[in-house]
Amino acid sequence: MPAPLKVLAGRADDALARALPAADLAPVELHRAMRYAVLGGGKRLRPLLVYAAGHALGCDDGILDAPACAVEIIHAYSLVHDDLPAMDDDDLRRGRPTCHIAFGEAMAILAGDALQALAFEILSTPYTADDDASARIAMLRTLGAACGAEGMAGGQAFDLSAVGTTLSLEELERMHAYKTGALIRASVRLGALAAGCRDDTVLDRLDRYGHAVGLAFQVRDDILDIEGESAIIGKTAGKDAAADKPTFPSIIGLDASRTRLFALVDDALEAIAPLGPGSEWLAELARYSAYRGH
Ligand code: IPE
Ligand code: IPE
Ligand code: MG
Ligand code: MG
Ligand code: MG
Repeated sequence: MPAPLKVLAGRADDALARALPAADLAPVELHRAMRYAVLGGGKRLRPLLVYAAGHALGCDDGILDAPACAVEIIHAYSLVHDDLPAMDDDDLRRGRPTCHIAFGEAMAILAGDALQALAFEILSTPYTADDDASARIAMLRTLGAACGAEGMAGGQAFDLSAVGTTLSLEELERMHAYKTGALIRASVRLGALAAGCRDDTVLDRLDRYGHAVGLAFQVRDDILDIEGESAIIGKTAGKDAAADKPTFPSIIGLDASRTRLFALVDDALEAIAPLGPGSEWLAELARYSAYRGH
């Protein structure tokens, strides 16, 4: 990842550490579980997409911190619940014990609940005195839609009911678009909305970019589950096959999955090309999502 993006990931880390409840504040166990789930690891791809989309439209980082934190906090909550015994039953995440292994199942469920609420609290809080309330409402609606039944949570439901079955490629893509794509698309849109963008042509281009990057990201996740090593990916490798989950490689094979990644990156780059040199970070993140090693 290029140095400016690493700096921005560090900026997201700092903003998240400030946004979360202090570890010594009661209820201490809950606050510790929330901080554990969010801090100390994670590539911060979703915050980076918020910053990169904002940059493409000339927005200052300070305006982008709140949406960047909100979307990463939703993502962290989704991982805590994804790892629970009732879902993927994983004990390794970001190279450490999962939240429920470290804090117990009940506290992990509550940490997820509280993180979800915190994300919306952060996003609804005015940042400047002349805050644009209509932009904030549009951002709240975007995030709500992306993490609900027609977004991430819906995708997780598709995922659970697909265990042991064979999906068509179309069904698999829909599952991925909901489960992972929705939050990635929302990240790009949040950056644009925070930048004050109301131009439907630009928003549509960014949406096409977000769709392609979101799908590429989950295809890469499916490939890494097969080819990655637990020590590098920071989570248990080989889980998808062990749990009999339909994935891109299981349905179309590894080679075709890789070919699909190339095509998705091309589509993402083509979508943002008219936005000019300011969209360079978005281009970097499209390539990173598809070709990353962890
Ligand atoms: C993992 O997401 C779960 C998926 C949606 C594929 P990330 O790969 O972004 O996880 P972190 O945040 O970097 O740990
Ligand atoms: C998780 O997908 C997607 C969400 C958390 C919404 P996976 O179950 O494939 O993610 P990993 O592989 O456990 O990170
Ligand atoms: Mg899962
Ligand atoms: Mg999982
Ligand atoms: Mg996975």
